[in-house]
Amino acid sequence: MSLDARERLIVALDVPSVAKAEALVARLGESVWFYKIGYQLAFAGGLPFAAGLIAAGKQVFLDLKLHDIGNTVTKGVESVAELGATFLTVHAYPQTMKAAVEGKRGSTLRILAVTVLTSYDDADLAAAGYDMGVAELAAARAMQARDIGVDGLVCSAEEAGNLRSIVGPGMALVTPGIRPAGSASGDQKRIMTPARAVEAGADYLVVGRPVVEAADPRAAADAIVAEIEQATGK
Ligand code: C5P
Repeated sequence: MSLDARERLIVALDVPSVAKAEALVARLGESVWFYKIGYQLAFAGGLPFAAGLIAAGKQVFLDLKLHDIGNTVTKGVESVAELGATFLTVHAYPQTMKAAVEGKRGSTLRILAVTVLTSYDDADLAAAGYDMGVAELAAARAMQARDIGVDGLVCSAEEAGNLRSIVGPGMALVTPGIRPAGSASGDQKRIMTPARAVEAGADYLVVGRPVVEAADPRAAADAIVAEIEQATGK
């Protein structure tokens, strides 16, 4: 994937209100081109706000992790495509992924699959009725995602190398849990620096608190982009 360093940084707008998101986006200015909107902001006016961001030339990742009957997913994804979002997450169930791929047809929206939530371990999967561990289930779902025509996967940077070898070069790998050297890890258990994550095969890096909570968010974003640039040479 041939991407400039700045195209690879996705800032997670994990804030409670559109007013806070607007203030942050204004502060970040031209330093950030791509924003992720999750449940918190989406359910607090974040969807009209996303449309405004897109109209202003930014790219938007809607992290809505959809999962429902096929027809409902397809129709929902059609609406997200209409909004002009760039990325949308769905849970990596075959029916759901097929429905999402159908819904985005003819648009520029790209579907990302979440293989297994990172908060799940083998015991959580067993409690949910699965007879497979996390590694096995994540690998099986990654292959299904590729075969169904899903555009990319959300994964930890630690998994990126292994997943890349499973799915080949065609899928985008989008990784949260990124921490520049010296920043607080927060509740993230498996973290990697921006440089190491792209070296491990990540195409896009999702960064929340290290930018959002920085004293100077713009400088924090620029430092991450510079680190990616150094690692990739572009
Ligand atoms: O603040 P931080 O950089 O940890 O934010 C990471 C973002 O990526 C959050 O929006 C979080 O919900 C999201 N995410 C994650 N781990 C996953 C999937 C999404 O941290 N497995």
